[in-house]
Amino acid sequence: MTKRIVVTGGAGYIGSHVCVELLAGGAAALVIDNFSNAHPEALNRIRELAPGDLEVLERDLADPAQSEDIISAVRDFNPDGAVHLAGLKAVGESVTEPARYYRTNLGAALTLIEALDAADAKNLVFSSSATVYGDRNESPVDESGLTGPTNPYGRTKLFIEDIVRDIAHSDNRWRIVNLRYFNPVGAHASGRIGEDPNDIPNNLFPFIAQVAVGRRDKLQVFGGDYPTPDGTGVRDYIHVTDLARGHVAALDYLAAKKTGGAVDINLGTGKGVSVLEAVAAFKRASNRDIPYDIAPRRDGDIAEIYANADLAQKLLGWRAEKTLEDMCADHWRWQSQNPEGYQS
Ligand code: UFG
Repeated sequence: MTKRIVVTGGAGYIGSHVCVELLAGGAAALVIDNFSNAHPEALNRIRELAPGDLEVLERDLADPAQSEDIISAVRDFNPDGAVHLAGLKAVGESVTEPARYYRTNLGAALTLIEALDAADAKNLVFSSSATVYGDRNESPVDESGLTGPTNPYGRTKLFIEDIVRDIAHSDNRWRIVNLRYFNPVGAHASGRIGEDPNDIPNNLFPFIAQVAVGRRDKLQVFGGDYPTPDGTGVRDYIHVTDLARGHVAALDYLAAKKTGGAVDINLGTGKGVSVLEAVAAFKRASNRDIPYDIAPRRDGDIAEIYANADLAQKLLGWRAEKTLEDMCADHWRWQSQNPEGYQS
């Protein structure tokens, strides 16, 4: 049902998996990416995994000087809708460079909205995050949970949700889903595409994977004294392929939807996993040692958050199918076959 889709940030970690699922389902995709945190090689791999109609526009959505060009390219593509993933995503960096985060993330979203408006393609799936919930809710958290992100990156996600709600309110031809991702991990089962962080990974799985492959000595476990079963932080890790399929399901939902409006939907498994459980599972999957130290808590971290994912099941007919073992095995396959990421 999904036809011609603009995918901003389509060469990135989540975007590349979304493209594969879209193309495999027979859709055409126009990737808009400036490759600031993505590698062009990802596009070759996407084509290899899912031959089909993939177009690429190398542009910066946040640069006003490029917006006219982008708007006309989107209009020429004649899309049915878009998945908006482009943006900056490092929490720590957003604390030290908030203005850049606001300009980039909000600017990119606004340019895409303008382009979709001009192309009269008013179906939009936005890549939001569980980070919008901050530390204000008991888990499992559903979409009625209180919002209150604790850093500028998280606030850009919530502000864009607010913007698209206003857009949907202003014109009932807009149909929008804000997908609130929990913690995406893993890689395509082929091992050909996966996460390729620029510097030292901020997130747990890429760090563990680099320790397992020998690129780093040991993991620092941030906090061993949280009020959780083993004292380490608990998160809802979701396989990136499940997540990508959630986007396709959201686009199909919008295409079939009779009324306009914006809706928020969690994408998670509904299961909490601790840092030490994740380390143990990765160790089993990789058959490698993963040395770690218990370090002080990381600023801004919360003890525990996992999803209530019932709404995704109800509205999208989607639920996460892959296990923690799949996440680790697939993440490891990608990491071991591409030890230096796409440079390998
Ligand atoms: N952790 C460690 N050591 C590390 C990295 C992480 O112990 O080197 C712990 C964290 O303290 C936390 C858990 O592993 O308990 C997960 O941390 P991540 O950094 O992987 O993910 P977060 O839950 O902190 O979430 C962040 C952003 C989200 C984003 C998510 C996935 O806040 O917006 O990463 O990218 F969605």
